[in-house]
Amino acid sequence: MIILGIETSCDETSAAVVKDGRRILSNIIASQTEVHAPFGGVVPELAARRHIEAIGYITEQALSRAGILLEAVDAFAVANGPGLVGALLVGVNYAKGLAFAQGKPLVGVHHIEGHVCANLFENDLAPPFLSLVVSGGHTILIEVRDYNVYHVLGGTMDDAAGEAFDKVARLLGLPFPGGPQVDKLAQQGNPHSIAFPRAKVGEFSFSFSGLKTAVMQYLAKNKNFNAADVAASFQQAVVEVLAEKTIHAAQKFGYNAVALAGGVACNRALRAQFENVCTSANLQLHMPTPVLCTDNAAMIAARGYYQLQQGPQKNWDMDVYPARMTAQGDK
Ligand code: KG4
Ligand code: ZN
Repeated sequence: MIILGIETSCDETSAAVVKDGRRILSNIIASQTEVHAPFGGVVPELAARRHIEAIGYITEQALSRAGILLEAVDAFAVANGPGLVGALLVGVNYAKGLAFAQGKPLVGVHHIEGHVCANLFENDLAPPFLSLVVSGGHTILIEVRDYNVYHVLGGTMDDAAGEAFDKVARLLGLPFPGGPQVDKLAQQGNPHSIAFPRAKVGEFSFSFSGLKTAVMQYLAKNKNFNAADVAASFQQAVVEVLAEKTIHAAQKFGYNAVALAGGVACNRALRAQFENVCTSANLQLHMPTPVLCTDNAAMIAARGYYQLQQGPQKNWDMDVYPARMTAQGDK
């Protein structure tokens, strides 16, 4: 089954062609970084406008890179939440138009479940497994009980991990997007030089706003701070908590595989920390290559493939759901 995936939830316009949910034939990603950089963050209205300009061309590219015609697509999958409402609407309406014109099924994909499915491409991972999704909007622990059964164990009570990276980057005067910059700068710093706090919140919950405040206070008190040490120590505080809670959840619920997902899963310290702790705990670790950690349409097509296994879908009245995923509602 050939699925064309579309992703426009934030500031990446992406289209991808995926075969049988596991093989990427193309995955085209147009980043809007240069549009938002002068503002130090994503400007929702500009993101939506840029998606409108890019989506047609990016989709054509995805089809031509995959070497197929639009008529050869068996179904369409589009991210319909969470994300920026205007940005999501562009992808959803474009996908509706394509699917309707071709008379083919259309599925709305949960962006975070899509991130989890980025782990299904490069290995033979199969549910059940535990996933930690760390992105710009989410920090969430999910039990993937089956291909279509996702259960949220817990998430952040305030800032998401990526949000914390981006805010600390701003405090350090680093350019947007901040996460990769903190990662780079931290390479030259000592992760144990500053004792930033590790938030003690619920068993499977996270909190990063206190850590961000601690960094702010440290910078105010220490005018001659070493930026690389601050970046490395902040990063260490984040990755230690993420790893500790994930391992605890895996052991408590008897999972033997852990899958990382989301943009922050590109972070080198995070990947190294998980490699260490998973080896010690005798857990299998899965991490997508960096380009599949950040937003992309291949992951949306992969998730859509499993939804389509549940039966044909048309969804012409599909809406968008901008709100963050929480532990309240099981799926
Ligand atoms: O998953 P993603 O591409 O978009 C969302 O769904 O939010 O994640 C973007 C987030 C941003 O906060 C970005 O700064 C962060 O991922 N990020 C990183 C790294 N690469 C991207 N954070 C830390 N280290 C990185 N190398
Ligand atoms: Zn994302």
